Amino acid sequence: MKSSIISTGSYRPKQVVSNFDFEGIMETSDAWIVQRTGIRQRLFEDESSVRMATEAARNALENLDASSIDCIIVATYTPDSFIPTIANQVRAHLGITNPIPSFDINAACSGFVYAYQTAHAYIASGIYKRILVVGVDFNSRYLDFSDRATSILFGDGAGAIVMEAGITGSIDCILGGETDTLETIRMQNMSDHGNPFVSRPLTDSSYFEMKGAEVFKFAVRVMESSVHAILERNKLTSEDVDLVISHQANQRILDSGARALKMPKEKFLSNVAEVGNTSSASVPLLLDEANRKGQLKPGMKIILVAFGGGLTYGTALLEWVA
Ligand code: COA
Repeated sequence: MKSSIISTGSYRPKQVVSNFDFEGIMETSDAWIVQRTGIRQRLFEDESSVRMATEAARNALENLDASSIDCIIVATYTPDSFIPTIANQVRAHLGITNPIPSFDINAACSGFVYAYQTAHAYIASGIYKRILVVGVDFNSRYLDFSDRATSILFGDGAGAIVMEAGITGSIDCILGGETDTLETIRMQNMSDHGNPFVSRPLTDSSYFEMKGAEVFKFAVRVMESSVHAILERNKLTSEDVDLVISHQANQRILDSGARALKMPKEKFLSNVAEVGNTSSASVPLLLDEANRKGQLKPGMKIILVAFGGGLTYGTALLEWVA
């Protein structure tokens, strides 16, 4: 059994913050940010991850009956609360009263591709038939605005898809990670209130921290190797790929990936200039944008690829059906 994406949706926060706005709070310039990253602005949320996830889900369900969903998976590293999960709350806000499972997963910026593969596995095994998958992150809550190399990169947002059992759609997926890179991206958190019986070090930083240059090299390397691997094991070449929906971290990473894979830059869709890096929301936000613009045609071969904290990566190859 295959899984197909039958619908997409997204939510973009209203607050637009340009590079020029950053010039007002730190030693930086629009020219530096555009030249190093391609980012011109990002969108910042003023409410919650749950609001963003729910709005993206509603958008994906605009022509579907929410009660037909039999599982909800949310990819995020920035839930408003650990319990209830974002997925629990989305289910409630959508008014789903059936006792369906709903849960969050976290693989940082690779999270959406991990959630996609999880949903696919449930569908392919016949356990569930129609799954709502959401990617959402509220990055701006954890940014250190005194760290100019990191805070300029990120924005907030949510994207959603509905997947269901079908005869075409999914082709393959590769997930992976590296163990010698645990310190490359960190967000320590969470509040440790201490324990009167156990002495242990308490964490004191909940800022998002990143070694940018190392992440850059990792991203270009795994984008090339994982896309090569998925094409090779399906006896395809980069010429067979119609579009790449990559995690939107930096325009230079996208351009380097295209060069390394010998693909025209036009095949790598991009919205990083307008939304920045939205972590788990990045791939589904761009997928929804492309879908609504009519850029995705039935039968097209599409690569989804993401990379990030862990360090982790994921690449999916699919045929567009919706
Ligand atoms: N404005 C102006 N100058 C800045 C700056 C900013 N916002 N941020 C850093 N700089 C300065 C640095 O202080 C440094 O100055 P120095 O040479 O005087 O010490 C100089 O620019 C170069 O810094 P460096 O960190 O080497 O720049 P870079 O070319 O590696 O670019 C990133 C920094 C973060 C843009 C780049 O490494 C990157 O995009 N990495 C990928 C990160 C990413 O996408 N992560 C998410 C993956 S999920």
